[in-house]
Amino acid sequence: KVLILDFGSQYTQLIARRVRELNIYCEIHPFNKIPTEIDSYNAVVLSGSPVSVRSEDALHPDLSLIRGKKPILAVCYGAQYLAHFSGGEVAESNTREYGRAKLAYIKEGEDFFENIHEDSQVWMSHSDTIKKLPENGVLLASTHDVQNAAYKIEGEDIYAIQFHPEVYHTTDGHQLLHNFLVKIAKVKQDWTPSAFVEETVEDLKNKLGDDKVVLGLSGGVDSSVAAMLLHRAIGKNLYCIFVNNGLLRKNEFEDVLHQYADMGLNVKGVDASARFLDALAGKSDPEEKRKIIGRVFIEVFDDEAHLIKNVKWLAQGTIYPDVIESVSATGGPSATIKSHHNVGGLPDFMKLKVVEPLKALFKDEVRRVGTSMNMDSHLLGRHPFPGPGLAIRILGDLTPEKVRILQEVDAIFINNLRSWNLYDKVWQAGAMLLPVNSVGVMGDERTYEKCVALRAVESTDGMTADWVNLPYEFLQKTSNEIINKVKGVNRVVYDISSKPPATIEWE
Ligand code: XMP
Repeated sequence: KVLILDFGSQYTQLIARRVRELNIYCEIHPFNKIPTEIDSYNAVVLSGSPVSVRSEDALHPDLSLIRGKKPILAVCYGAQYLAHFSGGEVAESNTREYGRAKLAYIKEGEDFFENIHEDSQVWMSHSDTIKKLPENGVLLASTHDVQNAAYKIEGEDIYAIQFHPEVYHTTDGHQLLHNFLVKIAKVKQDWTPSAFVEETVEDLKNKLGDDKVVLGLSGGVDSSVAAMLLHRAIGKNLYCIFVNNGLLRKNEFEDVLHQYADMGLNVKGVDASARFLDALAGKSDPEEKRKIIGRVFIEVFDDEAHLIKNVKWLAQGTIYPDVIESVSATGGPSATIKSHHNVGGLPDFMKLKVVEPLKALFKDEVRRVGTSMNMDSHLLGRHPFPGPGLAIRILGDLTPEKVRILQEVDAIFINNLRSWNLYDKVWQAGAMLLPVNSVGVMGDERTYEKCVALRAVESTDGMTADWVNLPYEFLQKTSNEIINKVKGVNRVVYDISSKPPATIEWE
């Protein structure tokens, strides 16, 4: 397995994803928390960083823990760090070193650059430049503008590059990581979805024995795949609870419940719509609405969990980005990342042990694991949907009538995306009910009705997103259909804001 030390770069997760794409398991740890059991790793990658090695805030990893022990690939900050503090020199760059560049020189006969040729495009993103290589440094590659774009340290298994192999614009990035990890560090490529399923099911069996486990299903990908893994391991001892908070999509509760039953899961549907809507009545502040939903969910879930005799474990569909975001927010160097709601979200009074079988996976890997267990591609390909559901898409206070209107609008939008084959091209889509009435005319009558906004975005992780350029004809047809069929709506707009500065949801 591979250890990635995070120096706070926005690309750290991308490095991990690229390593996993090579079927190699990896973990991200903050640069200042190098794991003590270093022997269990086969190679180390040092990430980039937003800070400069020359600044007072420079991050100082204790490299003595890994240097000379494991092959190291130092990317960007790592490359500069090694140069700056091991006898080389780093200075502010006076030429542009952002964006695309081409390799102009590659040293011959190096495994590190095997199958990579001059003119290969690389992605640069830094304002400092390596003026002088560190002690025993050997130049491996240059671009037209950057002399020391890649080097190795003679006599040690250390490779350093100024550009970013993890970014898709570095066209041979995959090859370069392959060269370093497989050819040089000899890491095994045995991280496959079916191997993961086998291992995890075995581990779960050992860990859980005959214990009973309760799991909250949401209809989403993560909780569903977690449930399938547990189901394979412990069968009927897995008790799934699927709560209808009255804020789901149209018919979603019934549809998903059927689907789960077809998968053989032992699942109980709990319709708590009235309880949620009562608690939310008259509340219009977004954060207050979120808190109420979170609280009522825990109450409902806890009531249900108490009905199961002798339950010992709570299973959750937590995935790797949820875990590392939290590590970064508390102990790591990355400043911009928000902590996630499902980590540590266990209320004290539930007193259950937690089991999280997907804790080591990224979203796309969760999907691959689901596929390898023959789960329905429809279910695995579902767009993300927020826990508070339609509550944060109905701006202002909620009423059952508003929920009904938005469910109808949303269903038309989503069904049309599917029938136009656009659903899988969009990362997330939904409709917002605006707290605005506007004047319209239908037949000869003046109307004064609701306005809805449609939103469709592309993204990889929800942290940044851009609106999708849906075909005019699609928008035209969808808008017509909504206004004709959904009573109470006379105007449809399309949201063309990116995140940042907007967010995906409106509340
Ligand atoms: P924003 O609106 O912050 O959304 O750009 C980013 C992603 O997070 C989802 N989201 C939530 N998910 N509870 C959730 O479980 C929430 O309170 C919540 N708020 C936003 C949103 O749907 C998008 O995928």
